[in-house]
Amino acid sequence: MRVLLIGSGGREHALAWKMTQSDRLEKLFVAPGNGGTQAIAENVALDVTDHTSVVDFALREQIDLVVVGPEVPLVAGISDDLRAAGLAVFGPSKVAAQLEGSKSFTKALCDEMGIPTAAYAKFDALEPALAYLDRQGAPIVIKADGLAAGKGVTVAETLEQAREAVRDCFSGTFGAAGAEVVIEECLVGDEASLFAICDGEHTILLPAAQDHKRAFDDDKGPNTGGMGAYAPAPVMTDALIERAYREIAAPAIKGMAARGTPFSGVLFTGLMITKDGPKLIEFNTRFGDPETQVLMMLLESDVLDILEATAHGTLANVSPRWKREVALTVVLAANGYPGAYEKNTVIANAAGLDSDTIQVFHAGTVRDGDRLLASGGRVLNVTAIGDDVGEARERAYAAVDAIDWPDGFCRRDIGWRAL
Ligand code: AMP
Ligand code: GLY
Repeated sequence: MRVLLIGSGGREHALAWKMTQSDRLEKLFVAPGNGGTQAIAENVALDVTDHTSVVDFALREQIDLVVVGPEVPLVAGISDDLRAAGLAVFGPSKVAAQLEGSKSFTKALCDEMGIPTAAYAKFDALEPALAYLDRQGAPIVIKADGLAAGKGVTVAETLEQAREAVRDCFSGTFGAAGAEVVIEECLVGDEASLFAICDGEHTILLPAAQDHKRAFDDDKGPNTGGMGAYAPAPVMTDALIERAYREIAAPAIKGMAARGTPFSGVLFTGLMITKDGPKLIEFNTRFGDPETQVLMMLLESDVLDILEATAHGTLANVSPRWKREVALTVVLAANGYPGAYEKNTVIANAAGLDSDTIQVFHAGTVRDGDRLLASGGRVLNVTAIGDDVGEARERAYAAVDAIDWPDGFCRRDIGWRAL
């Protein structure tokens, strides 16, 4: 099988790593890829925003399956353009990707399908939004409506913080994504993520994971794309998984199919487990990053079988097997992330750590001869497997400590909720 994987994060390195374990893989291209994928696949410098060049490349290289990692190309409709050219794609259509691309689209579907989620209101101007804040009080959650790389959300403890967040959105901090602002009730509980792979009709559930969104230990600091994760997450008991699927993911999938815009790909359901049961925080329409790093460590089956069956609508024939262990990943990020950070700093001793129980997945890295340089905010994902969270965590931090990168930092408490 000839595969084109789109993206350049830790998620893509983890998917690529798992794909290379498949006997069915003949050739893997990653566009644009990173310093990690370069070692196991062929990186291609495609401009992913130029759909025509991606389609042309895939046709020329006789690609059997295109796998789209990140949300930005999905929301821009790359799957539709690839499918229109006759290519098989793992990834939702442009309309289905609105479940991630527009918070107000999702809220409307929740209303339509009775999906439990935070109460909300939507604004396209500052004054009415501020007036609404005054009526609601704090704590309260402010969200840029569009895509903002996980950074467009402020959980405001005080009204002053809330006002500032609303002003920020409307002043253009998140560009077009902040032209509309969603203000939400603040949900209280444990967070967890449920992953459902769906071919439009049939669905398979993956192990539930827990992410660590805040930049610093003890869940302090700003929200990030995710600083670490582990799976399975004990907070998601089988009964809760079943309930969250039945009340949240399944009605969304059903609603999209009923509208004539079926969802195909992976529906990543961000949940708050409140005292009244699971509620939707947000949908994402792609694999989580860094959750995928732990899921790929746990997957025993051939990932290409799953992705291909999704693209071809034959998922009913697939039932993946998972390891019984726990996987945990620690993100090493550049000092300053999620704010401004320096690029091209040198990372030493990150090679040679991989083993049966450890994989160092790369995100923002590039190779410069023999040197490994940091080129992004989130840079490495040190991922370990163990019999329990404690063992996986010990192994992961031992590997983290072997890496020499003075310009980076990590959280030291990944997995604390499960310990
Ligand atoms: P999102 O980008 O929508 O996943 O939001 C990022 C993070 O903000 C979530 O992982 C939660 O920690 C937090 N968050 C978002 N919405 C809410 C809410 N309604 N109540 C409490 N926390 C929230
Ligand atoms: N780790 C959260 C995300 O991928 O959005």
